[in-house]
Amino acid sequence: MDCALDNGVRGIGAQCGGGCTCSTCHGFVDHVWFASVGGPVGDEADILEFTPGRRATSRLTCQIVIRDELDGLVVHVPPAE
Ligand code: FES
Repeated sequence: MDCALDNGVRGIGAQCGGGCTCSTCHGFVDHVWFASVGGPVGDEADILEFTPGRRATSRLTCQIVIRDELDGLVVHVPPAE
């Protein structure tokens, strides 16, 4: 989420500032990367249950912890509604 905001990526709103309450940072982790990133858990999983357009690789991007092995990570922005 921070990477998207810092680089002006459209479609990532991040209205709660990373608090895991708004889902405006919803993105689709590229299927090649999903195993490395991992799936949502806890509050994130609960919020994604009610997020329009959710897919199997959906994540709230504010909850993805960036680490060295995710260098090059590809996350797709949901289509505008
Ligand atoms: Fe609000 Fe991620 S920024 S849930």
